[in-house]
Amino acid sequence: MSKYQLTMGKDLDLKAEQAKSLASPLLPANIILRIMFMAMDVIYGQARTLPKFLVIEILARYPYWAWENRAYIWFTKLYTRAGWVRKPDSDRLVRLIELGRKSQDNEQHHMLIIEDIMRQKDIRLSLVRRRLLPKLLACGYFFLTRAMFFVRPAWSFAMNARFESHAEHEYMKMVAEHPEWDNELVETAYFEYYPRQKTMADLFRRIGLDERDHMHESMEYWEYLTGREFK
Ligand SMILES: [Fe+2]
Ligand SMILES: [Fe+2]
Repeated sequence: MSKYQLTMGKDLDLKAEQAKSLASPLLPANIILRIMFMAMDVIYGQARTLPKFLVIEILARYPYWAWENRAYIWFTKLYTRAGWVRKPDSDRLVRLIELGRKSQDNEQHHMLIIEDIMRQKDIRLSLVRRRLLPKLLACGYFFLTRAMFFVRPAWSFAMNARFESHAEHEYMKMVAEHPEWDNELVETAYFEYYPRQKTMADLFRRIGLDERDHMHESMEYWEYLTGREFK
């Protein structure tokens, strides 16, 4: 039983949860994340805009993919060594693969929805900012997340918790900056994959809550690995 309260699948007062997020402390970013967030500010501007969140979502999938992939390799090692496998050892890897899969899918759904809303609102960017720079950032994050998890998995969970804390706060702040979104109805074909929301404001509040869950799950895994409390 997790000490953290997850919100996925629960019927919650999204406005109250937004207020909770905004009142909660932001986890400080490490040096790598600070450089990344600074690069995004330089490329996409300081303002909280949908293109910036699209890039965040493109990148957000990578750590989860790295965890899933690494756990696959660990499974191969576990099942090709001498002696029978103990169930707790396979359970641990099953859980990590499940966490990686469900989280990368969730981030992917955020990505699909945001891009579709950008299309509906006809938000266009230059080719460099829309195509080239996100590819470069994604390429860097791909190798970074894999290398970090390879060298020390706890580092990866800690950095991801900080990344997700930033995402949660940014989404909730963006909603606060757009009071008109409470009256703007939202529709996208990608609600096929994601819990349908009525307004633009609730959609981004729900996405912000997903990021809070991701942060808590990363913190929990870090605590499991290190035996210490995440601060
Ligand atoms: Fe996300
Ligand atoms: Fe996330």
